[in-house]
Amino acid sequence: MKLAIIGKYGQLAQAARAYSEFKKIDSISFSRDDFPMQRQLCFDVLESFKPTHILVASAYTLVDQAESEKGLCLALNTFSIGALSSWCIHNNVKLVYPSTDYVFDGSIGKYSFSDKVNPINFYGKSKMLGEIEVARVPNFIIARTSWLYGIGSNHFPAKIVQAARKFQELDVVDDQIGSPTYVFDFAQRLIDLMQGEFKGIIHISSTGTASWFDFACRLLKLKSIDVKVNRISTQSLALPAKRPKRSILLEERWSDLGFREMSYWEDSLRDLYLQYNH
Ligand SMILES: NC(=O)c1ccc[n+]([C@@H]2O[C@H](COP(=O)([O-])OP(=O)(O)OC[C@H]3O[C@@H](n4cnc5c(N)ncnc54)[C@H](OP(=O)(O)O)[C@@H]3O)[C@@H](O)[C@H]2O)c1
Repeated sequence: MKLAIIGKYGQLAQAARAYSEFKKIDSISFSRDDFPMQRQLCFDVLESFKPTHILVASAYTLVDQAESEKGLCLALNTFSIGALSSWCIHNNVKLVYPSTDYVFDGSIGKYSFSDKVNPINFYGKSKMLGEIEVARVPNFIIARTSWLYGIGSNHFPAKIVQAARKFQELDVVDDQIGSPTYVFDFAQRLIDLMQGEFKGIIHISSTGTASWFDFACRLLKLKSIDVKVNRISTQSLALPAKRPKRSILLEERWSDLGFREMSYWEDSLRDLYLQYNH
């Protein structure tokens, strides 16, 4: 496998790069300066590397801002993916596209890979349209995940710890349920999977479910930070983008594919925050 990772400094991009180096995979990462996604794509960098596999770790991921930046969101999550898909078809390259639980509306609660998508915010729509583009490629993987965390300062646990050091009380929503997923767990499983024969749509999230309130409380307990955490509703935040209420990604095919089940979310969180003293 010769792997081109589009994205260099995002959470998934960094985790994928670290795991490919660990596995001694011939890989290269492109930052937004090397491979800008918001305008017509310049394929020279890919043509000189000649990848067999492309992992798109770049995306527009600002869920609320997407409601007012629709053009940029579509450019990154849909139009550039369309152009990349055509390039992969032409060059016989496997295209791997991470997607999201936000392609579902959250009304059913638990979603299998074959369930009907129905996004309720613009970010989710742009990712759904990206999925449609990727599915044109004969050799594709669409890997949906949820609530990614673990690298940098922009993910939920990092923000909760920062806030808890500043304030004596925190308000956290308790009416959205999902599966928090450590980005290294996602990257490892995705890279192991893409090296095999699997093609199609798959769900890669940690096992188990939580609300953002549960996630925050578990984290603060692990870190021995003593602050009061108040339960609030999503509605009380009046955010620009709607969120699915329950968007749990089911994957029942792991053993058929020769993998063990994904780790339980609390175990990964504990490993990250205790073992590595994050
Ligand atoms: N975060 C979540 O909770 C979550 C949940 C479900 C699914 N996902 C999906 O998982 C994937 C990875 O998410 P993430 O959390 O790793 O995202 P992230 O940390 O927000 O990183 C975004 C990436 O997009 C790149 N990027 C942003 N604007 C760009 C532009 N104009 N041109 C080129 N590249 C640009 C960044 O490039 P640089 O490397 O140059 O900075 C960075 O690598 C995405 O497809 C996302 O939709 C995320």
